[in-house]
Amino acid sequence: MAPKARKLRGQGRGSRATEAGARVWLAGGAIAAAVALVACVRRRSAAPPLAASPLRADYLSGFELEETLTREEAAFTQGLCIDDSGALWESVGHYGRSAVRQLVRAPPSSGAAPAALRVGASVPLADELFGEGLACLPDGQLLQLTWREGLGLQYATRPALALARARALRGEFRSPAPAGAGAPARPREMWGVAFLPSAGADGGGVLVASNGSSLLLHLHARSLRLLRAVRVVDAALGLAIEGLNELEVVEGEVWANVYPMWQRTHSACVARIWPDDGRVLGWVDLTALARTERAAVTDAYNNVLNGIAYNHTAPEPPPRAAGGADGGGARRHRPLLVTGKNWGAAYRIQLAPHAAAQAGSTAAGAAHVRRVCGLYAG
Ligand SMILES: *[C@@H]1O[C@H](CO)[C@@H](O)[C@H](O)[C@H]1NC(C)=O
Ligand SMILES: *[C@@H]1O[C@H](CO)[C@@H](O)[C@H](O)[C@H]1NC(C)=O
Repeated sequence: MAPKARKLRGQGRGSRATEAGARVWLAGGAIAAAVALVACVRRRSAAPPLAASPLRADYLSGFELEETLTREEAAFTQGLCIDDSGALWESVGHYGRSAVRQLVRAPPSSGAAPAALRVGASVPLADELFGEGLACLPDGQLLQLTWREGLGLQYATRPALALARARALRGEFRSPAPAGAGAPARPREMWGVAFLPSAGADGGGVLVASNGSSLLLHLHARSLRLLRAVRVVDAALGLAIEGLNELEVVEGEVWANVYPMWQRTHSACVARIWPDDGRVLGWVDLTALARTERAAVTDAYNNVLNGIAYNHTAPEPPPRAAGGADGGGARRHRPLLVTGKNWGAAYRIQLAPHAAAQAGSTAAGAAHVRRVCGLYAG
């Protein structure tokens, strides 16, 4: 599989949807339209509430390793999430090997050994389905995307893990992508997905999804209809971020693994994205973790960092004690697990200052991201 590097063109659909919306409002009455437009602009441009978040506001973050959880069974991890009961779920890819499964913490075998993640309940996919992203939905439901098969698989996890229904992904996700001159038709793809609570017109939440491009797709949570697509752009780098992959919602931000596979590069950095407008707020440099794993995995090109799970159900931990890198009193976020495809461990990490961006300098951070993150630079 050696596709030619391909640049995805075109405007984000978000701007088209906004224009269409504006036309309808104007037809409906000038005053109502003006009010609605102002409200809309204000909502879109509102600064992310970083001040109210336990997450670091720096453009570039490093991390502290809180715990290593060895994995009893490595897997081609495509999605990872923690549900509303605190249970950890994983989507596994590849034809003939795809599955959805629970990962359960097993106590260490001896006092000195690290804790391990053991495979619990598991449901295999039919051989012709390739598992992709996984979203933990309210009420213990899971939604797993398939790569090119145009299906979303919905599972109930209570009382036991079971496939509840297969849902056809609507519209353009089912039709083959337009083939370039002489190129074989390639079906549309779905990569990552996450549930963004209290978003959307009815406040019932939306799904954000990725398809390997630089677009963050907003899907209606129930119908899976495409609502809009925003292009993910990093102003500090002057770059649209290609290869958005596994997604996770972390304190209202969307975090993305980045894998510009079609552009033949991969990244061990995680993008922090403001979902409403696609702005990149910053990066988490996990290259040190990927280096640890790369010594063990045989296929570094495929076995990339992939899998982010944030434990929304855990209480916020107490602030840092005095004397750490941050000094005393800095807030700490809830437990955050990251892993990769065929990695031997999952890592619980806490964001920390990054040595390459002392005093939180964005310029220094951007220079570091350009140097180490392996992004597709066009
Ligand atoms: C990603 O989705 C956008 C919007 O629907 C579409 O234009 C693009 O072709 C898709 N890319 C892939 C690789 O499926
Ligand atoms: C998430 O946090 C809850 C509450 O602290 C805990 O019971 C649960 O085990 C955690 N989940 C994981 C996967 O660590």
